[in-house]
Amino acid sequence: MLLSKRLSCIAALIDDQAQTLIDIGYDHGHLLHWAAQQEFQCIVGIEVTDHFADRYRTLYGDDVELRTGDGLGPIKDFDKSDCVVIAGLGEERIRQILDAGKALLENIDQIIVCPSSRDFKLHAFMRTQGWYADQEELIDENQRLYCVSSFRTGRESCADETILSIAPRIYECDREQFDIYKQQLQERRLI
Ligand SMILES: C[S@@+](CC[C@H](N)C(=O)[O-])C[C@H]1O[C@@H](n2cnc3c(N)ncnc32)[C@H](O)[C@@H]1O
Repeated sequence: MLLSKRLSCIAALIDDQAQTLIDIGYDHGHLLHWAAQQEFQCIVGIEVTDHFADRYRTLYGDDVELRTGDGLGPIKDFDKSDCVVIAGLGEERIRQILDAGKALLENIDQIIVCPSSRDFKLHAFMRTQGWYADQEELIDENQRLYCVSSFRTGRESCADETILSIAPRIYECDREQFDIYKQQLQERRLI
């Protein structure tokens, strides 16, 4: 399975030791099917509506487990999830999903997000839950920069609220890229 640049970046950020991978909002299932060809022991896709599962099974068979439901709810029976991916949804929706499922966050080691649109409140929300972005990447797809953030439990070190809201690890690791991203967000009147 050849992944898009954005999904390849997400795949590259998944912890090497991860055994359980959850993809919330898998849609076309590209990440799930890629994962099925790797060494994960447990791969679960979650979608709000049923027909995505039928489409996936028609295309790829039964190589992963598919559950229908809202956000983290369908994995409430899991004692531990190594990595949860939530990509291609708006940042506000991602935050709502994590907020609604916050009792389950302690069972998760890593959360990778790539919002399709941003409201710049996710990092601050994650900080309130005791999480911080340990790695971030910017991906240029369709002439737009997408921010991919990997979160882990721990203390957020960025004290500047504006930088925190945009992409604190990009700011620290690649100032030039951060400035290009910020300028793009300003041109699109998002910040
Ligand atoms: C645009 S697709 C993203 C597909 C893929 N994750 C990607 O990044 O390319 C967003 C998907 O999220 C699903 N979705 C939206 N809200 C959801 C929720 N609360 N729980 C599970 N899936 C959800 C939608 O049905 C849709 O298929």
